[in-house]
Amino acid sequence: RAKLPKYNSIDDAVDLLKKSKNIIVLTGAGISTSLGIPDFRSKGTGLYSKLEHLGLNDPQEVFDITVFRQDPTIFYSVARDILPNHDRFSPTHAFIALLQAKGKLLTNYSQNIDNLEAKAGITPDKLIQCHGSFATASCVKCGHKVPGDSLFAEIKAGDIPRCRKCAQGTRTTSNSSGAGPHGRKRKVHRDGTDKKPRRRPGDYDSNSDSEYDHHAAPVNWSCGVMKPDITFFGEPLPDEFSRRLTEHDRDRVDLVIVIGTSLKVAPVSEVVPFLPPNVPQIYISRTPVSHVNFDIDLLGDCDVVVAELCRRAGWTEFRHEMVPE
Ligand code: OAD
Repeated sequence: RAKLPKYNSIDDAVDLLKKSKNIIVLTGAGISTSLGIPDFRSKGTGLYSKLEHLGLNDPQEVFDITVFRQDPTIFYSVARDILPNHDRFSPTHAFIALLQAKGKLLTNYSQNIDNLEAKAGITPDKLIQCHGSFATASCVKCGHKVPGDSLFAEIKAGDIPRCRKCAQGTRTTSNSSGAGPHGRKRKVHRDGTDKKPRRRPGDYDSNSDSEYDHHAAPVNWSCGVMKPDITFFGEPLPDEFSRRLTEHDRDRVDLVIVIGTSLKVAPVSEVVPFLPPNVPQIYISRTPVSHVNFDIDLLGDCDVVVAELCRRAGWTEFRHEMVPE
């Protein structure tokens, strides 16, 4: 796509903001880092940099559905550190909420699973959580769905949540909670290593749990493991993602603002090229991207950039404070 020559400065971005009525805002982990929530790929600080101790070929395997089915302990050794537990939202969330309040927000496509859009007041009809969320969790075997937060205590305690429905059907042959005969539960240690060698994907044997506890009753792995409904690599995105994009937004959008994402993960990375080429595109992030050609790149801390956009637009109602009303 050739650059639209008429837009290139921050003042052009402000003009576009003021005149546009149907803005798509596509967000990634960068909009939450000011709250202390790590992004994924920033060197040194991103989540993937911190997973070297797991010894994975690729840290993305933590969110790989095939790996999860073989060895859920890998995901659960990380999960308790990424549970949504923040009440505050960032100025960038507040900026998106302001676009909504001004009747300008068409849709916020968020790749984030921290649920902070809702805290900022972005309404469900304007929000697509492209990579799902922790709001619900499902059994990988039977699909039984439960509220996500009903598993948080177990996840925080280092246990692997199991499906109660599956357990009812296997109560006589297996232990529903993963607890041993004396009620001892399987533990996932914070560093993912346990005190014994960590199991590799594929090591699980439905008839043997000896590596963990020689005295525990055999764990029946056919009894379902619960998985938060965040979208893993290898899983389809929620239906509403492509439905909203193709049937609702594509013909309405008049401005795209991409904030705090490296655009490395498809199909979200394909949203911008999918939209009509005459729709202006703004990119706000610390790190430039070379694989998508934006009209305007506003490089820097997104909270600072959006505050400056609002200042120049005269939007004095922009809220810098980061607590829910
Ligand atoms: P990344 O970590 O790949 O990219 C975050 C981007 O935000 C980087 O370009 C950072 O430079 C930038 N950034 C960080 N803090 C910022 C700040 N305060 N202001 C401006 N920019 C900032 O995260 P995502 O693109 O969101 O998927 O990652 C996409 C998907 O990859 C995630 O949803 C996740 C991951 O694997 C799943 O888990 C399925």
